[in-house]
Amino acid sequence: MIKFEINGKPTALDVDPNAPLLWVVREVVGLTGSKFGCGMGLCGACTMHLNGEPVRTCVLPVSAANNQRITTIEGIADGETLHPVQQAWVDENVPQCGYCQSGQIMSALALLEKNTNPSDKDIQAAMAGNICRCGTYPRIEKAIKRVINNKQSLQQSSLKESPINTSASSSNNANGVEIYEPAKREVPNEAGTAVKATGEAM
Ligand code: FES
Ligand code: FES
Repeated sequence: MIKFEINGKPTALDVDPNAPLLWVVREVVGLTGSKFGCGMGLCGACTMHLNGEPVRTCVLPVSAANNQRITTIEGIADGETLHPVQQAWVDENVPQCGYCQSGQIMSALALLEKNTNPSDKDIQAAMAGNICRCGTYPRIEKAIKRVINNKQSLQQSSLKESPINTSASSSNNANGVEIYEPAKREVPNEAGTAVKATGEAM
């Protein structure tokens, strides 16, 4: 049994400990905002946060997330209110096909939570591992700088650290998977229309 907290929800799953975290989150938990691109840790499409750090989940065994805290693109908004980083993506019309954008946002968010005033060099270093085949890099940079210019809203909306709670009541789903407060299967909080359309289709 693998236990973790995902987007603030304690979850326990009977899965192969060697299965990639991306596969477990997409296919078992049902959160499909994080994408499969290269499967080799090279493109960043699968980026989630593990205890606040960006990780390539296509090459991370789910066992590495046992008793850890995971955040996905679905977990960063506040209800219907987009996170300031997501809102900046919308305001700058960043996505083209949208496929890479959840990973781009999670990498940008990890940077901005550590450094609210990164230099151009800091931004390039933090985002270097996220590939966009549509070439939206200039708009990504503009969106990050939009957030930097509105630091206060980022600080107000920063993700709060929360303790892992594995004492919540549990239930079993139709597949016999034990889930504490099962995660929603819809993907309500991606950055923009194009991302949503791609996410729903995958
Ligand atoms: S799909 Fe994980 S880095 Fe490309
Ligand atoms: S791959 Fe980045 S928007 Fe299409």
